[in-house]
Amino acid sequence: MNDSSACSCGVILAGGQGKRMKSKLPKPMLKVLGEPMLDWVISVCNNAGISDLAVITGFGREIVEEHLGGKYRTFFQSERLGTGHAVMQAVPFIEEHRGGNVLVLCGDAPFITPDVINGALDAHITGGASVTVVTAELPCPTGYGRIIRGEGNSIDKIVEQRDCTEEEARINEVNSGVYWFRADALLSALSGLRPNNAQGEYYLTDAVSLIMKSGGKSLAFMAEDKNIVLGANSRADLLALNNVARAAEIDRHLENGVEFVCTDGVIIERSVKIGNGTLILPGTILRGNTVIGENCTIGPNTLIENTTVGNDTHLNCIQAYESKIGSNVKIGPYCQLRPNSEIKDGVKIGDFVEIKNSVIGEKTAVSHLTYVGDSDVGEQVNFGCGCVTSNYDGVNKYRTVIGDKAFLGCNTNLIAPVKIGNCAYTAAGTTVTRDVPDNALAIERTPLAIKENYTTVKFRDKKWK
Ligand code: UD1
Ligand code: CA
Repeated sequence: MNDSSACSCGVILAGGQGKRMKSKLPKPMLKVLGEPMLDWVISVCNNAGISDLAVITGFGREIVEEHLGGKYRTFFQSERLGTGHAVMQAVPFIEEHRGGNVLVLCGDAPFITPDVINGALDAHITGGASVTVVTAELPCPTGYGRIIRGEGNSIDKIVEQRDCTEEEARINEVNSGVYWFRADALLSALSGLRPNNAQGEYYLTDAVSLIMKSGGKSLAFMAEDKNIVLGANSRADLLALNNVARAAEIDRHLENGVEFVCTDGVIIERSVKIGNGTLILPGTILRGNTVIGENCTIGPNTLIENTTVGNDTHLNCIQAYESKIGSNVKIGPYCQLRPNSEIKDGVKIGDFVEIKNSVIGEKTAVSHLTYVGDSDVGEQVNFGCGCVTSNYDGVNKYRTVIGDKAFLGCNTNLIAPVKIGNCAYTAAGTTVTRDVPDNALAIERTPLAIKENYTTVKFRDKKWK
């Protein structure tokens, strides 16, 4: 790449509302596979080596600015007067880059790639172009601007769908909305834009014919990957983008040796890592910084967010958030791990169990209908059915500590703060309000009373007599 690439910068258009979305969010903040489309575009720019970026905001300005957190410069477009008008807001930024090249792209087309951006820049520089438009051929080009080719590899003009003649509408080559401009050529073209079109907007696309008219060179850079043009102008488009991204992610994991027998309802975000030999069953949603080891079985119907999972672990119909799960663990069905839970190796957690902010030691079993919150549980502990750590008095939360190999009888209540010693027992139905030493049995029972003939006396006149 030659010297002029050194001063490359980018302008991302993110001012549009996307009326057809009927959303309170600005369109580029709508998510594809869990990430705002704007973030997809920003990360592609960064991966292409372009970090000097300006973002045009408009509808929902505060939402975009707060999301960017001051990381990138923003320019506010107070009225939505078109893509050309949006770029005009960044004139001070573009002026700082005179002599260099400016990448312009849309915040609602997330699948552009670093290779295409850099390939187009190479063509732009070696071809001595003032503007290079990234294009693609689509079998169904409806909705996109059509490329009217000139001599050689040049473009005469770009015509929007609404301004197309019948003949132009039959052209399959479309404008991706991604362009490289020489900064100086862009600045003079912007000053010449007029809203003379079906929508009464300042079209950025008109910059191409203006540049040609003033003697500059235009170039089409056709991308092979058709997905790079896919944008979201409606909810149906957004769903289509999600489906494309979802399938691409599943393909990536298939190549890494992850097994799927049916991908119905499987959604895996781009940040997720999965080891080979792991089986992902239908209805599994893996989000955020989730890392899953090798030879696990995940699902069916499991949602895991920001959680790490070891190897050979089976998670069946559970939800887990911000937690850590070891190897050889079995959890489910119908369990929830709330944030900050650590499940060590070899643990078994059965149905209808909730764990919150707790450590569960190696090989401990929590088989059914149990709540463990704010607790430090040792190794090889056995929880009977229906145990509850009473961690909250309505004002404060307290911890429960359970020693190794302790055995909690069914329906034990542990009133925190409380400590159960190593190898200690609690009898079924016991409410523990004091610490239990190692090897002790805590039993809290009223004597059982049996009243003979209770039914026949009390219900003398009823059918049981
Ligand atoms: C635009 C192109 C079209 C191309 C398509 C590719 C124009 C006139 N048309 O059409 O040739 O095929 O993209 O996706 O440029 N925006 C603003 N301010 C505005 C208007 C739009 O910031 O006043 C932003 C939007 O948030 C969006 C981007 O610009 O991120 C594109 O706008 P959109 O209205 O979606 O343009 P298209 O009609 O799709
Ligand atoms: Ca669009």
